[in-house]
Amino acid sequence: MCGIVGYVGNQPVVDILVDGLKQLEYRGYDSSGIAISDGNDIKIYKAEGKLQNLENVLREHRDEIQTAKMGIGHIRWATHGAATLLNAHPHTCNCGKLALVHNGIIENFKELKVNLEKEGCVFRSQTDTEVVAHLIASIYGKVKDLTEAVRLAAQKLEGAYALCVMHKDYPNTLVVTKRNAPLLVGIGDGEMFAASDVPAIIKHTKRAVYLADNQIAVLKADSLNIINSEGQNIDYKVEILPWEPVALSKMGYKHFMLKEIHEQPDVIRNILVGKLHTTDDPVVLNEVKLTRETLKHLNRIQIIACGTSLHAAMIGKYIIETFCGIAVDVEPSSEYIYRRTVTDENTLVIGVSQSGETADTLTAIKQAKAKGSHILIITNRPDSAMAREADSLIPVSAGIEVSVAATKSYVAQVISFYLLAIYMAEIKDSIDASVLKTMKNELMIIPQKIEQILAHKEVIQKCAREYANTKDFIYIARGINYPTALEGALKLKEISYINATGYPAGELKHGPIAMLDETMPVLSILMHGCVYEKILSNSEEAKARNAKLIALTNSTEKKLDDLFDYIIHVPEVHEYLSPVIAIVPLQLLAYYIAEFLGKDVDQPRNLAKSVTVE
Ligand code: M6R
Repeated sequence: MCGIVGYVGNQPVVDILVDGLKQLEYRGYDSSGIAISDGNDIKIYKAEGKLQNLENVLREHRDEIQTAKMGIGHIRWATHGAATLLNAHPHTCNCGKLALVHNGIIENFKELKVNLEKEGCVFRSQTDTEVVAHLIASIYGKVKDLTEAVRLAAQKLEGAYALCVMHKDYPNTLVVTKRNAPLLVGIGDGEMFAASDVPAIIKHTKRAVYLADNQIAVLKADSLNIINSEGQNIDYKVEILPWEPVALSKMGYKHFMLKEIHEQPDVIRNILVGKLHTTDDPVVLNEVKLTRETLKHLNRIQIIACGTSLHAAMIGKYIIETFCGIAVDVEPSSEYIYRRTVTDENTLVIGVSQSGETADTLTAIKQAKAKGSHILIITNRPDSAMAREADSLIPVSAGIEVSVAATKSYVAQVISFYLLAIYMAEIKDSIDASVLKTMKNELMIIPQKIEQILAHKEVIQKCAREYANTKDFIYIARGINYPTALEGALKLKEISYINATGYPAGELKHGPIAMLDETMPVLSILMHGCVYEKILSNSEEAKARNAKLIALTNSTEKKLDDLFDYIIHVPEVHEYLSPVIAIVPLQLLAYYIAEFLGKDVDQPRNLAKSVTVE
């Protein structure tokens, strides 16, 4: 989703802004722009589409941009108004003296616009953001102080925003503020940065201040001043970012998604370090702060998440209920937040999020926290807004995930749920210890099994070529792999734009079977376990309607050869852990189909890596 970079210092600003935006590029965007100050004037450059287009524009103005030492940059993911040049940020006021960039959504922009138009403001774009530019400029005209104008304007805004503002009258100052959207200030040596996320500035500094909601920061090359919404100066804490500057490199892979799929064995090994020592030792989760007493008496859990994280949560439900005998509800965050939920201080609420910034999930956990629930966050970003709300944390340690389609972070979330379920079951003594021992053993060897799949991708590639031109795809599974069917279908939809749907196999005959004929591929996730024979029967039902049948299976039964048109074999694995194995060929199948179709695999149309608007 949108990204912000700001800089004030002594270096030529354009390269810093463009490079910062490049580090955020993976999040998904459809236009970009920068505003720079050369001490006299503010100049704005924008482009539709990829950053390369902005670089081309900047190249044409090489001579006039070299002296600028302060500026703001933005990549935009369209919400209000199409992805056009006029709607791209930065936006300005009537006189063009003020420029700003914005992440988030201003919910009351229409009301504000009506009043500003009465004052004579002329709007050029369809964005909510332009309203903020006119609003701050209007207030500035009265108070003649940029920081004060930003503070007073922020009080009139409803919704979510991270704002980075510059003004011609302040050639050495950036003013930034935020509410319900991430923004941090990086402190360099004689220079200051603002960014919506760490990768944009990590090359330059590891010292940063995470702004809290409604705080306003005033950045000059050699000073940082932060005030609260009442205008009072506040002390701030400089944190050392737990990041190394990583080159976002594909390491020889054609796409980040393929690289990230291949990283999954090491991601699992990494997450187990320090948590799972031997099959005899209890699981250690140092940042889970639930007391043993609370855990023993816990009888209700709610898990909230979106998209792929929601699918990980569904596996979490299955495994926690099986191991711990605790009732678990799973709900999309966007549904959770607009109804009366039965959530209280006796409910453990688990938020799952790769980015830790997803607006719906963040709102949901804040609501649950306000009701007194213990909040446990499973995230790939221990420095995120969600992690900051957490009473307990499980960092999934998957490393930065660049591809918009989540792969390694999903597997890491699923593994985190196994660890959590085993951890709770050991405390509650809720399942035979031998089951947990088997699980621990399986967890330790599962990376090798994934490596076996990754070493033999030819069958999946062939299957992808055969089915790449299908218009629709159905995935069926039951039990613990039903979420795998949903996730496999989501992966295919996201990157190939093929209409793919996951169904519980038993539901096929209650409606979806009407769609089956010889043009419809049906992929059955047929893993050994309590529903194996049931899925076989459901596959037979599909076969009887002439559907093309693909099996993803760890079975070597001969009879499958007659039933299925195509078989993707995976290594044997315990039923409970089979989702970790089954998802890998589905990620690869989606990848190879999209690649075969020539799609933009890492940055699919309309999608953003981190969805910071509701
Ligand atoms: O960062 P989060 O895990 O909270 O993001 C949730 C979804 O937006 C995300 O999983 C999305 O569905 C991905 N594109 C999946 O590939």
